[in-house]
Amino acid sequence: FIDVGIVGTGSYLPKRIMTNKDMEQIVETSDEWIRTRTGIEERRVLEDELATSDMATEAARIALEDAKLSAEDIDLIIVGTCTPDMPFPATACIVQANLGAKKAAAFDVETACSGFLYALTIGEQFIKTGFYKNVLVIGAETLTRILDWKDRNTCVIFGDGAGAVVLQGVDKGYGILSSHLGADGANGGFLTQPAGGARMPATLETVENRLHTIQMDGSEVFKFAVRAMGKASMKVLEDSNLSLEDIDLLIPHQANVRIIDAAAKRLKLTDDKVYVNLNRVGNMSAASVPVALDEANKKGLIKKGDIVLLVAFGGGLTWGSSIMRW
Ligand code: ACO
Repeated sequence: FIDVGIVGTGSYLPKRIMTNKDMEQIVETSDEWIRTRTGIEERRVLEDELATSDMATEAARIALEDAKLSAEDIDLIIVGTCTPDMPFPATACIVQANLGAKKAAAFDVETACSGFLYALTIGEQFIKTGFYKNVLVIGAETLTRILDWKDRNTCVIFGDGAGAVVLQGVDKGYGILSSHLGADGANGGFLTQPAGGARMPATLETVENRLHTIQMDGSEVFKFAVRAMGKASMKVLEDSNLSLEDIDLLIPHQANVRIIDAAAKRLKLTDDKVYVNLNRVGNMSAASVPVALDEANKKGLIKKGDIVLLVAFGGGLTWGSSIMRW
C-alpha cells in the first residue's frame, strides 16, 4: 500500500461576523451564557447570494495552491456536508465545475459533523490502493440556513465556513497512520433535520413547524460526544502503536469548549497541544476540523514529523478519527 498524506490545506470563512451580542437581539440569551456554556463568542454567516459550494470552491483553490497543483491534476473531489447547495447535483460536482477539474470524479458524503473525517478516510483508500493520485477532500457547511432562529438551544451554536485538503502519496512512514470511523444509527434521533427528504417532503405545514431546521437533544449529544471523542482517539493511537505522549497536536471537532476540554483531559493533553477556534467561528459541522487544520498549519503550529490527531463526532450518530505523521 501507498502511504497517504495531506500535502496542502485551505479554508474560507464568510466576511459577516455575528457576535453573541447580536444573538441577544434574536433570542432570549446572553453573551455570558453562550460564552460560559459553549466557549463561543462569535460565528460567521454566509451572504444571502452565496451557498456551500462557493465557500468549498474558495477553500479548494487555496488548498490546491498550497499543494502546488492545478485543478486538472485532481482525480477525485469529495465534499463532506449536511448543507449541500441542493439535494442534487452533489455539491462536489458544482465545485468540480467551478474549479474546472475536468478529469475529477465527484461526490458528497453526508455524516453531519463527522463528514470531513469520513471523506478523508474514503479519499485515503483511493490513493492507498493506487487507484488515484490526487484527491481533494472538503468539509463545507452553511448551517445558518437550516437553523431555527427561534430556538436558543441550537441557533447560538452554529456557523458557516469551509476547509479543504489535498491528499497524495507521501514518503514511507509519513501521512495517515491510522483511521477509525463509527456509527450508532439507533441513537440518530438525538440530532436530526426531519423534513425535506423523502420521509417528510417539504409542505407548508413542515415549514410552519420549522421541521427543516436542526433539532437537537443537547445534553444527550454532549454525553455521546465526550465518550466518542475519547474512544475514537484512543482507537487510532493504539492501532498506530503510539502513546498519549506522542501527540503533538489535537484538532478536535469544534462543538463546545467543554467537550474539547473533557477530551483533552482524557488524552492528558495540555492546552498548547489542542487547537481551538470555536470562540471565533462556532460549530461549522463538517467544516470545523479542516478549517482548524488549515489555521494551525498556516500559523506554523505543525512541523514536519509532528503527530497530529483529528477527531470528530456528529449526527447519525457518527464519529471518526485519523492520526498522521505530518
Ligand atoms: N441562552 C440562554 N439559555 C439557554 C440557551 C441560550 N442560548 N440555550 C439553552 N438555554 C437554557 C435551557 O433552556 C435550559 O434552561 P431550563 O433549565 O430552564 O430548561 C438551561 O439553559 C440549561 O440547558 P442545558 O441543556 O442543561 O445546557 P447545557 O449546559 O447542556 O448546554 C448545549 C447546552 C450548549 C447545547 C450543550 O448541551 C451542548 O453543547 N451539547 C452538544 C451539542 C453539539 O455538540 N451539537 C452539535 C453536534 S454536531 C452535528 O452533527 C451538527
